[in-house]
Amino acid sequence: MSKNINEGLNYENKMGNRLEGKVAIVTGGGAGIGEAISKKFAKEGAKVIVAGLPEDPVEDVVKGIQEEGGTATPFKGDLSSLAIAQTCVELAVKQYGKLDILINNAGTFPETNMLPDFTEEAFDYLLKNNIKTTFAMSRAALPELQKTKGNIVTAGSESGVLGIAQNAPYGGTKGFNHAFTKGLAAEQAQNGVRCNIVAPGPIDTGWTHKETGPMDKQMEKMVTQGTLMGRRGTPEEVANVYLFLASYEASYVTGAIWPVDGGTLIAKGPAGDQAADSMKQQPKDDLNLEHSKDSHTSIRK
Ligand SMILES: NC(=O)c1ccc[n+]([C@@H]2O[C@H](COP(=O)([O-])OP(=O)(O)OC[C@H]3O[C@@H](n4cnc5c(N)ncnc54)[C@H](O)[C@@H]3O)[C@@H](O)[C@H]2O)c1
Repeated sequence: MSKNINEGLNYENKMGNRLEGKVAIVTGGGAGIGEAISKKFAKEGAKVIVAGLPEDPVEDVVKGIQEEGGTATPFKGDLSSLAIAQTCVELAVKQYGKLDILINNAGTFPETNMLPDFTEEAFDYLLKNNIKTTFAMSRAALPELQKTKGNIVTAGSESGVLGIAQNAPYGGTKGFNHAFTKGLAAEQAQNGVRCNIVAPGPIDTGWTHKETGPMDKQMEKMVTQGTLMGRRGTPEEVANVYLFLASYEASYVTGAIWPVDGGTLIAKGPAGDQAADSMKQQPKDDLNLEHSKDSHTSIRK
């Protein structure tokens, strides 16, 4: 029997103080990875604005945080609008007096199709929700982040480096976020603001399951086999890296792309088939995630 590498990795009831006194906005905070980031940050002492589309269960996430003694406020609106992004930032300042951290996590994965069949509607939807949200929220937040010498962490993806078959436009939007964030890091260092990317591989949200997202059985199998660890990452495993990059512990990190992908970027072929059983096991989460599969994978009118 191989030893589980996650043994001893017990998150249970672990409260920290790495974000004590900090105010954070988490976009797409009502589901999936964003729910995990919101709950993780609150556990580490941050006051969190949990922001999502009007249909997103952001109030539930806030309630869960408050029940565990944390501090959070919901915000609902389409964050690809500059005016709404501005209102979201104003809420953080009005409610908590400042803004230290912006997490640009909102995103969508509405369709999988070869390009000749890829719809213009899905392409426009990707531009709006994956790119314009990042632009609008970063633009609205920067004046406040400059005052606090804060930081931005944005959702990229391994597919923003490697591309992804049957969703080439999605990989393109993530490649935009990578270059955009590096550009911001370069220009905002003079204002004391750090900017970084978290680039996940296949994560255990609705996107990577054929029952809840647009991937078919074959694609679902390919993305997990294409990791060295032969499994999806958990939302909490991704949130842990957001926490590091947003905290003072990453004080010398800016303009960086941090893969959280189980080795996808260096895997060659179906490497996951060879992973040790211990690596294939997901660690036990500690965040009481209720909406990890409530993903936004269809086009909402
Ligand atoms: N799940 C994965 O395998 C994976 C892999 C790589 C990168 N990522 C990235 O991580 C992020 C989160 O992914 P997830 O799987 O948790 O998705 P998810 O669908 O579970 O959550 C994303 C949230 O963002 C919200 N959102 C989308 N557009 C918005 C807008 N215009 N305004 C406000 N909220 C908006 C959605 O409503 C949803 O609640 C995305 O940016 C995604 O590209 C995910």
